[in-house]
Amino acid sequence: MATYFHSVFLFWSQGAQFCGHFSKSIGKRWATITIFILSFVSIFLYWIWIQKSVITDIVTTPSPKKPPGQVDFPLNCSNLNLTLTCPTTCPVTIEKEESSPVACPEYTRWIHEDLRPWQSTGITRDMVESGRVYANFRFVIVKGKAYVEKYKGAYQTRDVFTIWGILQLLRLYPGKVPDLELMFWCGDETVIKKRDHQGLKATSVPPVFHYCKDDETLDIVFPDWSFWGWPEVNIKPWGTTLEALKEGNKKIKWKDRKAYAFWKGNPYVSKKRVELMKCNVSNKNDWNVRLYIQDWEKETKQGFKNSKLEDQCTHRYKIYIEGYTWSVSEKYILACNSMTLLLIPQYHDFFTRSLVPMQHYWPIKITNNTCRDLELAVEWGNYHTDKAQDIGEAGSKFIQENLKMDFVYDYMFHLLSEYSKLLKFEPTIPLGAHEVCSETMACQEGSKFWRIKNFMVESMVKSPRNRLPCTMPPPL
Ligand SMILES: *[C@@H]1O[C@H](CO)[C@@H](O)[C@H](O)[C@H]1NC(C)=O
Ligand SMILES: *[C@@H]1O[C@H](CO)[C@@H](O)[C@H](O)[C@H]1NC(C)=O
Ligand SMILES: *[C@@H]1O[C@H](CO)[C@@H](O)[C@H](O)[C@H]1NC(C)=O
Ligand SMILES: *[C@@H]1O[C@H](CO)[C@@H](O)[C@H](O)[C@H]1NC(C)=O
Repeated sequence: MATYFHSVFLFWSQGAQFCGHFSKSIGKRWATITIFILSFVSIFLYWIWIQKSVITDIVTTPSPKKPPGQVDFPLNCSNLNLTLTCPTTCPVTIEKEESSPVACPEYTRWIHEDLRPWQSTGITRDMVESGRVYANFRFVIVKGKAYVEKYKGAYQTRDVFTIWGILQLLRLYPGKVPDLELMFWCGDETVIKKRDHQGLKATSVPPVFHYCKDDETLDIVFPDWSFWGWPEVNIKPWGTTLEALKEGNKKIKWKDRKAYAFWKGNPYVSKKRVELMKCNVSNKNDWNVRLYIQDWEKETKQGFKNSKLEDQCTHRYKIYIEGYTWSVSEKYILACNSMTLLLIPQYHDFFTRSLVPMQHYWPIKITNNTCRDLELAVEWGNYHTDKAQDIGEAGSKFIQENLKMDFVYDYMFHLLSEYSKLLKFEPTIPLGAHEVCSETMACQEGSKFWRIKNFMVESMVKSPRNRLPCTMPPPL
């Protein structure tokens, strides 16, 4: 392109020079006409070049980067009568590209596995309907617009922030998320048991979206609400928290941290956690373990001063233990640069399946000897400080690189797209559904709503992304 422009320019200047000599010998009038014609031709060619380059730019290169902080989709609560429909956001088309040069994190591969039960049969309307008994809500996308049909309330604001999260995906990739209908379950326990759908009586498996699964279940794993915020315990949206943790990590260097294994949380959600409490330091024993009970009621009253996650990167080792099923705490624990002593979990969420033992964490089996195993792990780490530090840093790097919100959204995008490809019916707006958008959710007032609203504004997607989602790895 530049060469082309250069030659046009040369052509024009040579022409002018040529005309200069010409004018002396032949005469002023002819010279003027020649200059005029040559200029005209040059301008015309230049115009063609501009047109051509604009067209090629649209086809081959992404649109220019927006200045940071620019908001394409402001949350405009003033023009929304809450009983009315959502504002229409114009779909933004991303320039045509064959595939994204950015590879998705390894864990994205598991989407193929999670959807395998329906790979050969596809998903019929009956199958979706059979998931209704388990679901808190049905989420529907028809022509890029979102609808929710509520069935039963969820614990705290899990359903609210889950729906909010999907709506943000629609803002990130307007017009790109295909039409679909899905059932979503927001509880702790897994609901689609393999044993209920095996053998001769095999009923078709209901596809139900949920936050976790184990080897015995077929729930479709989706990021949990905490990525957009958990207002009841003041756990901020993940984008903000991840940055805070990066800063928090700098406060105390690994070697200056307390040489014990730390855990803080609510033990009364599972027997395993209650058992773990026996490993705490006491008059009789010291297994190098320091455990603390998080009293959320007290914290709520005191304004969450002592529960900041970024202030909990104070020990060389941090313990992860699952709760009733998976625990949202895993990402916060891994992101601390401390070596994670991971009590091997039964359940996994969407990203934990690509963590590698001894690379990202130190695995510990839950047995009668757990306290002793914790003690040995800490002793090993204090003796091999460089290696322990490496494992701690590798775990944090995994989280910082693979679990940034960009990739969380891309995981959701690919999961929903693959799910939608399996649907054997045309999604329709259910009678009991209402349209949802960021405005219907965030444009509320009231003293109880302010923290929810703050988290929503904080985690809101403010502009569509001008690149394609990452490229999904092939099935295993
Ligand atoms: C919000 O919408 C109203 C009514 O359509 C409009 O007058 C106002 O300028 C909008 N505000 C912003 C910040 O876009
Ligand atoms: C909002 O809608 C309700 C019900 O349709 C109507 O009574 C009210 O006047 C509307 N308010 C505004 C500000 O348009
Ligand atoms: C564990 O021991 C420490 C130090 O004695 C104490 O402060 C803490 O409350 C104990 N934690 C539990 C869960 O008992
Ligand atoms: C753990 O200890 C209890 C009681 O001491 C015993 O009954 C049980 O079999 C032990 N479990 C394992 C896995 O060793």
